[in-house]
Amino acid sequence: MEQTPTVAPMIDLSRKEDGTSSKETFSKDVAEGLSQFPKSLPSRYFYDAAGSKLFQDIMALPEYYLTRCEFKVLTDNRQEIARQFAASGFFHLIDLGAGDALKTKILLRELSQQKSEFDYVPVDISGDAMQQLTDSLQQEMPSVDVQAVVGEYFPALEWLQENKAERKVVLFLGSNIGNFKADESRHFLQRICSNLSSGDKLLMGIDLRKDPDTILSAYNDASGVTAEFNLNLLRRINRELGGEFDVEQFRHYPIYNPHEGVMRSFLVSKKEQDVYIRDTGQTFHFDAWEAIHTENSHKYSLQQVSELGKACGFSVETVFQDEACSFADVLFTVA
Ligand code: AVJ
Repeated sequence: MEQTPTVAPMIDLSRKEDGTSSKETFSKDVAEGLSQFPKSLPSRYFYDAAGSKLFQDIMALPEYYLTRCEFKVLTDNRQEIARQFAASGFFHLIDLGAGDALKTKILLRELSQQKSEFDYVPVDISGDAMQQLTDSLQQEMPSVDVQAVVGEYFPALEWLQENKAERKVVLFLGSNIGNFKADESRHFLQRICSNLSSGDKLLMGIDLRKDPDTILSAYNDASGVTAEFNLNLLRRINRELGGEFDVEQFRHYPIYNPHEGVMRSFLVSKKEQDVYIRDTGQTFHFDAWEAIHTENSHKYSLQQVSELGKACGFSVETVFQDEACSFADVLFTVA
């Protein structure tokens, strides 16, 4: 197990039930993705310790408007959001992909001030992040009851379903839904819905369609942080799987398709080359300028968002929006 050891009171659901370690899964996914044509790697592997740090740097970039905009939406509407969350008494606030929870803290502070009855259940695959978050909340908001869970989203939701029948409010912020393809996002929301009960809520942050130049810049920043974030995937393969990527021989290439509303990121091989990866036991061939697809970031229209929710058993309660940067936090209720 490469997982960071977790300290009580965190709950560790990161071990796979079939006994395969996360490293074996990583190795298998890499071998599969690089054997395909066209080549691809799953974006969830961006977030090792180095990648999580780089993503924090991305969130502070002038070009990466998403975090700032959502911060504003949540700040401007915090009283109303907190009121709607707490309208029916005690609830579990489940934060999927909580990370450093910088935005969630706006809501936690407000809920505390309103003396709402709730506990906070941040879920993240990074044990480091959950330990840091637990510690920082202990310092900043000692009155908030925190139960961090280290693991993937669904084991965490199922665990909650099995263990507690109380009301739930799920947070899925930061436009993380954007990483899913259309069918994957439907599947994901349906599974969330099936682990909730009628009247439970979902607050989902979504980056909306806007000027393609604004979107492209956010994924192609002038200081090259996003390029480093993307290239870190190859560095991680080198570190964890004994890969022999010469990272200098690849470049970050993002492109936005305004017709589909999809921002796609690639790593392009600058020359013809062979790359050996020890743990997969394979050598992967790259033609000159052959690309690895590493990420999709979907941009939605408000209509698409509400249709997506409806198709999965949710109805739209309130749309909180920043008109200027067109980012929305949509509050859904389980029908
Ligand atoms: C964390 C998935 C929302 O797609 O905007 C940022 C990740 N990738 N820059 C996004 C990311 C490149 C981010 N999400």
